Amino acid sequence: MTYLKLNDGNRIPRLGIGLWEVPPAITARTVASALSLGYRLIDGAALYGNEEGLGEGIRQSDVPRDQLFVTTKIWNDRHGFDETLRAYDESLTRLGTPPDLLLIHWPCPAQARYVETWRALIRLREEGRVRSIGVSNFNADHLERIIGETGVTPVLNQIELHPRLQQAELRAIHDRLGIVTQSWTPLGQGRSFEAEPIRAIAARTGHSPAQVILRWHLQLGCSVIPRSTRPEGQAENLALGDLELTEDDMAAIATLEAGERTGPDPATFG
Ligand SMILES: NC(=O)c1ccc[n+]([C@@H]2O[C@H](COP(=O)([O-])OP(=O)(O)OC[C@H]3O[C@@H](n4cnc5c(N)ncnc54)[C@H](OP(=O)(O)O)[C@@H]3O)[C@@H](O)[C@H]2O)c1
Repeated sequence: MTYLKLNDGNRIPRLGIGLWEVPPAITARTVASALSLGYRLIDGAALYGNEEGLGEGIRQSDVPRDQLFVTTKIWNDRHGFDETLRAYDESLTRLGTPPDLLLIHWPCPAQARYVETWRALIRLREEGRVRSIGVSNFNADHLERIIGETGVTPVLNQIELHPRLQQAELRAIHDRLGIVTQSWTPLGQGRSFEAEPIRAIAARTGHSPAQVILRWHLQLGCSVIPRSTRPEGQAENLALGDLELTEDDMAAIATLEAGERTGPDPATFG
């Protein structure tokens, strides 16, 4: 497993397992299976309704806790300073272990409370209750606002990113600010699996379209969190070691940009 350095001195595994839509009844075994295959980063959220299973999967595995990196997120109905502290306590109880990274799930600009929420995350970090703090689905103006008003830069912004939504502008802003980009829905619901450059690179290198796309994320410099509940899918997504995309491959995949979201628009959602 390789790591990216965070701007607070901690580090995050570059590739992890996502838990959105993983049913609670199979979450513990999905997590335990991923950990046994070599995953060390687990992406959870209060919204996913499976934090108990996440914690249980960690306890079932024989990987020491200090080798793991657990993320969870504050959901949209818990914005505000005190409410966020309460939401954190509830996540902690469900997980049974403190997360390594706590994110604001969406900025919800219409609620106009994300700066207060960010102040609560800063407090949690100052109290040593969580090691790293970051955001998700923040646009440039949301980032500027929290940094400008608190002086604290998030370590990471987890955003929708796949070949049909490549986020070049936001990635450049992250690079300038020292924020890690983490890609959600990295496989883009399979919409690019049959696209010519992906298909051709997969055929030439003897890898699957999913592996080509995940390697593309890593070569962009992103952290990436594909979800698979199948052990074979989990193993496939981790087996990228000998795959290397050329500059021409990267340029060919860049042409797939379509500005196409699979999820909501952060400027208006929540
Ligand atoms: N911050 C946010 O707002 C936000 C939003 C969405 C997602 N996320 C995070 O990002 C994670 C990943 O996103 P996602 O779950 O939407 O989608 P994804 O990881 O891009 O794709 C998951 C889907 O692809 C299939 N799949 C996985 N590996 C495959 C492979 N090698 N070949 C073919 N199909 C494969 C999975 O099915 P099988 O299980 O059958 O393999 C599943 O249907 C989430 O789980 C969550 O942790 C965050």
